[in-house]
Amino acid sequence: MDKSAESSVELHPIIAARWSPRALDPSGEVGERSLRALLEAARWAPSDGNTQPARYLVGRRGDDTYARIFDLLNRGNKTWAGAAAVLLLACAVTVNEKGTIPHAEYGVGLASENLVLQAVAEGLVAHQMGGFNTEGARLVFALPDDVRPLAVIAIGRPGSPDALPDPLKAKELAPRRRLPLNQIAFTGEWGRPAF
Ligand SMILES: Cc1cc2nc3c(=O)[nH]c(=O)nc-3n(C[C@H](O)[C@H](O)[C@H](O)COP(=O)(O)O)c2cc1C
Repeated sequence: MDKSAESSVELHPIIAARWSPRALDPSGEVGERSLRALLEAARWAPSDGNTQPARYLVGRRGDDTYARIFDLLNRGNKTWAGAAAVLLLACAVTVNEKGTIPHAEYGVGLASENLVLQAVAEGLVAHQMGGFNTEGARLVFALPDDVRPLAVIAIGRPGSPDALPDPLKAKELAPRRRLPLNQIAFTGEWGRPAF
């Protein structure tokens, strides 16, 4: 399904094509080379002082890590994310030998967007989720105290929206919306549009 971003100027095709589908093919596969490329893309993200705070637990369909990440999802996300070929748990390392890592969550966000855009380049789809049990993640993966679980990312192949329950199918087919540019880019003073 094409839900390309509408914009006033042409965007890079990978950025325009990225969106967060819930309709995933339950038998769709993600090759090991592609999966490795996703994590390499994350590895090469910028970070404050090159502190590289992003870490990922990688669950492949059928393995124990996948099952444990899936179990952490909230009920709504469980209705669709089990069709993903790969589930990742994105975490921030918040402390290094120099103390608190500055902007650690920002760094994980940058790494994860790199990862998601690489997924689009690989012909895959990716959907990030904040709806999961973070305390459960700490326990089930024995995360150190200075590691903060931030998001689960479902990776897979596009599937049929008809397989989704009705409210989710409607969301899947609805147009994507964004604030207009004049509400997000300002110049001179807060609120004065830059464009
Ligand atoms: C940090 C974060 C948390 C999110 N949590 C969820 C979630 O728990 N469940 C879900 O279905 N989508 C979740 N999303 C997806 C957003 O709803 C989606 O990115 C947003 O509506 C914009 O749509 P688009 O990605 O298709 O452009 C999350 C996205 C981000 C970045």
